[in-house]
Amino acid sequence: KQSGITCGKKARKAEVSIKFNVDEQGDEQMVSSCTDRPVDDAAIQSLRANKIGVLEGKSLVTAAEEEKPPVNEGTRSTEQKDEEMVVNAWEVKGKIDYNKLVDQFGSTLIDKNLMTRIEAATVGKGNIDKIHRFLRRGIFFSHRDMNGILDNIEKGQPMYLYTGRGPSSSAMHLGHLVPFLFTKWLQDAFKVPLVIQMTDDEKFLFKGEFTAENGDNLDHYASLTLENARDIIACEFDYEKTFIFSDLDYVGRMYPNIVRIWKAVTTNTVNGIFGFDGSSNIGKIAFPAIQAAPSFASSFPVVLGGTRDSRDCCLIPCAIDQDPYFRMTRDVAHKMVSGDHGLGGKPSLIHSKFFPPLQGATGKMSSSDSNSAIFLTDTPEEIERKIKSFAFSGGQETKKLQEEHGANLDLDVSYQWLRFFLEDDELLEKIGKDYGSGSGEYWSTGKVKAKLIEVLKELVAAHQERRSKITDEEVKKWMTERCIAIAK
Ligand code: TRP
Repeated sequence: KQSGITCGKKARKAEVSIKFNVDEQGDEQMVSSCTDRPVDDAAIQSLRANKIGVLEGKSLVTAAEEEKPPVNEGTRSTEQKDEEMVVNAWEVKGKIDYNKLVDQFGSTLIDKNLMTRIEAATVGKGNIDKIHRFLRRGIFFSHRDMNGILDNIEKGQPMYLYTGRGPSSSAMHLGHLVPFLFTKWLQDAFKVPLVIQMTDDEKFLFKGEFTAENGDNLDHYASLTLENARDIIACEFDYEKTFIFSDLDYVGRMYPNIVRIWKAVTTNTVNGIFGFDGSSNIGKIAFPAIQAAPSFASSFPVVLGGTRDSRDCCLIPCAIDQDPYFRMTRDVAHKMVSGDHGLGGKPSLIHSKFFPPLQGATGKMSSSDSNSAIFLTDTPEEIERKIKSFAFSGGQETKKLQEEHGANLDLDVSYQWLRFFLEDDELLEKIGKDYGSGSGEYWSTGKVKAKLIEVLKELVAAHQERRSKITDEEVKKWMTERCIAIAK
């Protein structure tokens, strides 16, 4: 009953544990659950009522699961640190060491010099008065050939942006928004064309087996493309300069480049990069070329007026887990262009860190666990409930301890999320200072959560408002092949 974690033997068995923090009124507040799958509302109510983190006789316990160690035991779980880091195009797990990742991948950290160059190239252009908060706060943190593309821009060479989304669920969550918000900022700053690839083919090929029971779900993924395109359009891109395409629909246009890439890459290479083997369906092995192709302007003869000797450079904003695709792309680039491109045809990249799930600052948010994410479709009440109930707290277990030690900001999900979405630098700094020291206006988890709830309610409501106005007709227009390039 003592405030703090109740994660005893029984909780281990049930893989459920709940942490209670004492709020200002001395009430216990449930701040995190340690389970690797959703706990339904009734279960949460019962846990709350009993003030113990054990669920017995509920469907949560299965024999097989009893064997497994708890995913997230304890409030400041050491397992989070120890769990092996896994980052590839399909899986992100464990405590992410971003420096190590940059080392492993062979990309480069964005340093002060580059930041200054990006600032010089963007601030003062259009309505840009500051570099984006994602850059200011090291959320976009790594790159390939950014200096090269800035050189080319300075020389007046044309540039376009390329990003994408694998439509795996109808509702997108906050984490999915990150690359798109940043891409919009780049489009505003550079006033350049943007192509957005919807990889419905990828999700079909990679999700589940093609069996009689599963049935054929290709149409399902095609329809998710349209749903997700609506969310992407609601990010306020420039219609005149943006083309969204479904692979299932557009891939024919890119086919000449796809076969070129196929011929340039061996099965051993893709297996090495992506971990495929002889049992992988042949579509998986073919797919990386399809994600690579939009990196070349010649894949867009109408949209960009691209040809093999186009000098257009491509900049790809993406989360760092997508980097393996573009390592492969950059290796074949010289075979894809003719003439003087400046970067040997290679696309440049700018990489983001992951948006942490509610339950803890490891891995990335997943749409398959509805309690680990805030969806763009969530109601204000759901946003409030999820943050209050599930946002992992780096705060201390009692008021006294919190005042003595302050919160661990690195582990605190509410604070980390504010770093992504609170625009005001001064306020963020104050929150960090107060909460980190356990004093001042934002001294407690409750105060910080309340601020986060306010910020997210506003952001999600504004998104929903814009999204609700987008008709099917309009989605179709954004997805129609048309020229979006500035006259050269
Ligand atoms: N594979 C990505 C995903 O699953 C989608 C994607 C395609 C993408 N092309 C891209 C992401 C370019 C970033 C940049 O979400």
